[in-house]
Amino acid sequence: MKIYKKVFPLIFFVAITVLTSGIGFFVLKNIMPGDDTLSARCWKEVAPYLDQNLSIQKRVDDLIGRMTEWEKIGQMALIEKNSIRDLGEITKYNLGALLSGGGAGPKAETPLAWLKMVNSFQSATKNTCLKIPLLYGIDAVHGHANVLGATVFPHAIGLGASHDADLVKRVASATAQEMAATGIYWSFSPNLDVAQDIRWGKTYETFGSNTENVAKLGVAYLQGVQDYSENYFKVLATAKHFIGGGSMQYGTARNKDFKVEEGNISLDEKSLRQVHLVPFQKAVENGAQVVMVGTATWNGKMNTSNYYLLTDVLKTELGFSGFVVSDWYGVYQVSNTRYDSLVKSINAGVDMVMTPFEYKDFMSNMQKALANGDISRERLDDAVRRILTAKFKIGLFDRPEVVQSGLSVIGSVQHRALAREAVRKSQVLLKNENLALPLSASLEKIIVAGSVADNLGRQAGGWTTEWQGIDGNYGVAGTTVLDAIKNAVAKNTKVEYNKQGNFSMGNNLADVGIAVVGEKPYAEGWGDDINPSLSAEDLETIKKVKEKSKKLIVIIISGRPLDIKKYINNWDGVVAAWLPGSEGAGVTDVLFGDYNFSGWLPAKWPL
Ligand code: BGC
Ligand code: BGC
Repeated sequence: MKIYKKVFPLIFFVAITVLTSGIGFFVLKNIMPGDDTLSARCWKEVAPYLDQNLSIQKRVDDLIGRMTEWEKIGQMALIEKNSIRDLGEITKYNLGALLSGGGAGPKAETPLAWLKMVNSFQSATKNTCLKIPLLYGIDAVHGHANVLGATVFPHAIGLGASHDADLVKRVASATAQEMAATGIYWSFSPNLDVAQDIRWGKTYETFGSNTENVAKLGVAYLQGVQDYSENYFKVLATAKHFIGGGSMQYGTARNKDFKVEEGNISLDEKSLRQVHLVPFQKAVENGAQVVMVGTATWNGKMNTSNYYLLTDVLKTELGFSGFVVSDWYGVYQVSNTRYDSLVKSINAGVDMVMTPFEYKDFMSNMQKALANGDISRERLDDAVRRILTAKFKIGLFDRPEVVQSGLSVIGSVQHRALAREAVRKSQVLLKNENLALPLSASLEKIIVAGSVADNLGRQAGGWTTEWQGIDGNYGVAGTTVLDAIKNAVAKNTKVEYNKQGNFSMGNNLADVGIAVVGEKPYAEGWGDDINPSLSAEDLETIKKVKEKSKKLIVIIISGRPLDIKKYINNWDGVVAAWLPGSEGAGVTDVLFGDYNFSGWLPAKWPL
């Protein structure tokens, strides 16, 4: 009895301990299903998937064979970095990819802060069983332009005007170098949309409205970004937005704040193919590894869930073997419930989901869909295989960790010289009466005015520092057009500037008046505009400059053709400068005749 009394509490204690730790283990196992970093399947230096001498296919086979369902699902998630509150979440959910949305960077946007931020996200994957590195994506659509001090190249519409594939390839390659220096190996670029309606706010993200030109420059861009000189692609490019967004009809936008973006394409299949498919076909033929499916609907059906477009056309007919990523929130716009939207999109052919926020929800809906048989395990494996293959192709498992010393390429002298070259090759001379241009650099007096003359933010446009761009001289290191004019003229030439065009010079006329006018920065959706044109303020400024000068040059800084029909008669010289970015001197290179104008219109300009 006595013994019993002694033993009983002991047994009780042991039983309780075993039970609670069992429950604890069970709970842990379910909250953190990937947390078995010591099991035999986990990372080991000698694992075949880490062996650079094996083929990519063998490495993928080995890796995928080690993965749990939970880990596979994690590889399909693309999460906006601001929704990660705690690095441990990356580990816990085995997340496969992060992105910086427009303007989403570290607090100080310096290159070093970017590098540290990306490295710290990567470090969280080191605590997972298989240590699969993250793909980190960003909209480096005209240079690595979220980063302070980066070279900001002309937006695609300007490159479109250059019609110069070699130039575009070099621009893309420089952009990729600046990205890679910060540890970012995935660009959401090139944009292969063929803009058919300049009222669309994304027009400037495109190479214009001509299918051939878009295809040619798109391929050049892709090759420049991916540059395979070191046994892996330098940076992964993304061909976007599949497909037809350039033909969305004005007024059909789903979002009531927009007019065109997220709208409907009403085209028959033959036209859709003729106008919009060719650039994607060429991109696939030239090594595209990622295609982003856009948020348009085609004849009422969302592209994101269109099996015919994604699987029959893109993957089967064109033979695309890379992965399809959905666009910002695109998957969840398919139907009323997230579950149903997800099932439809994944089954249609989406491989990676830019959720971009609710990853917990994404993970559990995927688990549920697999358990229910609404998404097959073959589809899961196919998607993951495509994603992992791309990760191997950019050497994610093999590249040395990025170090600070590489940051000097960002905004380097060479890159800025290249940007300047790109600017001058993209200038289009819209009107030149009485040989108004080129200007002599040794005139007595030049007056300069206009809302964009001294404004780097406007010169750079959207997707610069912030999603919708910035308005003013901060966030971009560069030369304004005004400064470029001052630098271009002879020592004795007087350059007088007044933004509004208020010059008090009595009856003395300046030799030349230059008005630098145009659009305020904008990006997708918010840039949809029923009648892209100059503001009343700009028109007023132009009028004043005209009154004070012997000849008037108007430089239009805009993401698209603007309606100037009513005014152009009064102007002597007119230049379409597009959104040149950081190097205003590219504009003056042609203005003062150091180089000839060589660009021509990438889209119709109604004159
Ligand atoms: C745009 C894409 C962009 C993505 C990520 C979307 O809204 O349509 O072009 O890559 O956001 O910023
Ligand atoms: C993000 C962009 C994204 C957009 C889509 C913004 O908040 O910064 O990257 O394209 O939302 O609506």
